[in-house]
Amino acid sequence: MNTWNSKPVFRIGKAIGLILGASVLSLNVATAAITVTKHNLSNAGLGTQANSLQSPGTEAICVFCHTPHGADTNAAVPLWNRVLTGLGPYTTYDSLGTSSLDGSVAAVGSVSIACLSCHDGTQAMNVMINTPGSGGYDPAGVTLSGTWVGPASAATPVGSLNYGGTTNIVNIGTDLQNDHPVGVQYAGGGINATTHTTDTQFAGTTNDADFNMPWRVTLNGAPVWYVDTAVGSAGVREKTDMQLYTRNDVPGGGGVDEPTVECASCHNPHTSDNPTFLRIANTGSAVCLACHVK
Ligand code: HEC
Ligand code: HEC
Ligand code: HEC
Ligand code: HEC
Repeated sequence: MNTWNSKPVFRIGKAIGLILGASVLSLNVATAAITVTKHNLSNAGLGTQANSLQSPGTEAICVFCHTPHGADTNAAVPLWNRVLTGLGPYTTYDSLGTSSLDGSVAAVGSVSIACLSCHDGTQAMNVMINTPGSGGYDPAGVTLSGTWVGPASAATPVGSLNYGGTTNIVNIGTDLQNDHPVGVQYAGGGINATTHTTDTQFAGTTNDADFNMPWRVTLNGAPVWYVDTAVGSAGVREKTDMQLYTRNDVPGGGGVDEPTVECASCHNPHTSDNPTFLRIANTGSAVCLACHVK
């Protein structure tokens, strides 16, 4: 069974709470991370954190990315509150033509397009499908009112990630040739629902042998893969493991349920545990070595 590590923490928290009363609150709050990150774009945001953007339009945090109703379903991402059509076009990593790339690269989609709906720098970040409160739904996107507060270093602080121009790497842009590949088959391909049918660590042959083998779990009847890291428990899918995202549209791929690397393979957009939203600390390049055998 799949178990995010926050669940056991919460259960333990409840059990301790019965004994210790209010002290359990601090245990749970310690895991509530997004509030103190740059992904808190709310008015009640980071006041104290330099270089953060804040919208005066709302005190809600999740609303910049999620909505409980009326979400965009053009990519398989949870309850997405931003329009995911008409983005790009993107230039993907494979078009750079390195002679060592083994895996095929799918068109930008999955969770990566959700990240890029802000991080390609083209869309204002206070545009959302369903703004807070009653009657704020527009499937084409609505802009929250108010003026953005941006980093003092930016000449023109605006609500899109292009405020720093070409020197702002947080603005990934639409040319992804200079970014780690996303939408790329894991281990060069060879892993899919047909070649790996049990919830175990993959032990078959891949097209690129220089990778740590991923584990499979079944969620809602469909296979999901992850690369186990040294953080947390072995053989249990946790947020501190590298998540692989299942896709059926990899060109020349096996067609069904193939694990690919996407932005959120390495980043957890909610965590404050590590700098730059990394799933694990990158000490000794642990992020890179979780997947690559080098
Ligand atoms: C900056 C964008 C952003 C914000 C803000 C954000 N999320 Fe997310 N969230 C994402 C993305 C992207 C995913 C998919 C990532 C993945 O696959 O792990 C996600 C996934 C989730 C999931 C499903 C996967 C999981 O981690 O359990 C839940 C639940 C969730 N978010 C809840 C929230 C809540 C609650 C808030 C507000 C407190 C919030 N998110 C704020 C971007 C965001
Ligand atoms: C709602 C818009 C939005 C979405 C969606 C979004 N981000 Fe961000 N992200 C931001 C903003 C704003 C910043 C802070 C920029 C700044 O202050 O310079 C940021 C900063 C970051 C940073 C740098 C953090 C730091 O400490 O310097 C990383 C890494 C990042 N985002 C990754 C992601 C990933 C990965 C996803 C998808 C899983 C994602 N973001 C989705 C708006 C977004
Ligand atoms: C294979 C892992 C991996 C993937 C995939 C990945 N990143 Fe990153 N990203 C990293 C690492 C590692 C860092 C920290 C680099 C550093 O410390 O300078 C980083 C840093 C960043 C930063 C902060 C840059 C800075 O110096 O302020 C942003 C923003 C970011 N990533 C966004 C994204 C987005 C958006 C995607 C998907 C298009 C993505 N990342 C895909 C590993 C990854
Ligand atoms: C989630 C797993 C994962 C993580 C983490 C990861 N990579 Fe990768 N990386 C891949 C995959 C898969 C490819 C595509 C390899 C292929 O098909 O040949 C790739 C490709 C690359 C390439 C391009 C290879 C080429 O032939 O053009 C480089 C360089 C690279 N990664 C370096 C890094 C570095 C540095 C880090 C840490 C910052 C990192 N990777 C983290 C999975 C990962």
